[in-house]
Amino acid sequence: MKAVFVPDEMTQGWIEIFAAEAPGLHLRIWPDIGDGDAECAICGAPPPGIFARLPGLKVFFSLAAGVDHLDLGQVPPHVAVVRMVDDSLSEAMAEYVVMAVLAVHRDLVSYIACQQRAEWRRLPEVRARDRRVGVLGLGVLARAALARLAPFGFPLSGWSRTRHEVDGVVCFSGADGLRAMLAATDILICLLPATPTTRGLLARQVFDAMPRGGAVINASRGALVNESHLLAALDDGQLSAAVLDVFEKEPLPTDSRLWSHPGVLLTPHIAAGVDPRGAVRSIAAQLRRLERGDPVAHAVDRQLGY
Ligand code: NDP
Ligand code: OXD
Repeated sequence: MKAVFVPDEMTQGWIEIFAAEAPGLHLRIWPDIGDGDAECAICGAPPPGIFARLPGLKVFFSLAAGVDHLDLGQVPPHVAVVRMVDDSLSEAMAEYVVMAVLAVHRDLVSYIACQQRAEWRRLPEVRARDRRVGVLGLGVLARAALARLAPFGFPLSGWSRTRHEVDGVVCFSGADGLRAMLAATDILICLLPATPTTRGLLARQVFDAMPRGGAVINASRGALVNESHLLAALDDGQLSAAVLDVFEKEPLPTDSRLWSHPGVLLTPHIAAGVDPRGAVRSIAAQLRRLERGDPVAHAVDRQLGY
């Protein structure tokens, strides 16, 4: 199969990895497209004009799990857009979510604030069985996170657009389902894609629908959270803590109050970076499917935006 790879600062060294992991792949490096007969393109963000220059393109592999940065309208309709799904990415996200849930559950966010004030204060302990964890999204990353959370004994629930069944997880869908889940969620984790229907979802109404003193973890996209509503809910105690990896604007502006809020633990969009070897293996597996005549997995639904 002929492919065009668009390198950028995030993909240094990937050409060697392609050679090792996908030796059968005839790889051209953008902007050298040879005779332009490549059937697949692999890149983070498509450079301007790439689709016009590759008329035989069948598949566009994005190197990110979320595709909200792509203008899907500029991709010709016959070209499948495939998002990144890879076990090592899922494992990294599951680790991040476990870290964040335990930080909230064991009051680490509050203890860090106490330490900064040199204040010796013991907070009441809550057992995992009494801490209800709800996940917005029941996709690839949410399921990986739920599987890692299960052994701790938290009562688990999840919410998705369509109805799912997941072992050990109470599943909800739709607007009524969201209300029901929020009312019974102490720690809310967001693993939804940013789409026209999810942007701004985590706003005052959602925080107020949770039991007082709950916490929010956002590891998907900043566009999901209304940051001023979040800060107001933290200020007035409706929320006790937030663990945030992603922000409305990245890098988070230095004057954002989130940096210094005692109820906030934040990281710079590192929850689950793409692992070069894992990503190349995942693309190589997809190419084998295409060569067998099977459809690629994890193609983006353009109407839904994820
Ligand atoms: P998936 O596409 O596998 O899962 C998305 C889930 O969200 C699905 O369960 C889907 O429901 C649900 N969903 C979508 N729209 C709605 C809606 N309107 N209402 C309710 N549920 C909805 O995505 P992944 O799990 O692979 O990734 C999730 C996101 O994580 C990515 O889009 C990306 O933004 C983010 N991400 C962040 C990283 C980081 O480092 N911070 C790293 C990687 C990804 P249904 O099952 O019914 O379709
Ligand atoms: C992704 C990310 O979407 O790293 O892959 O945020």
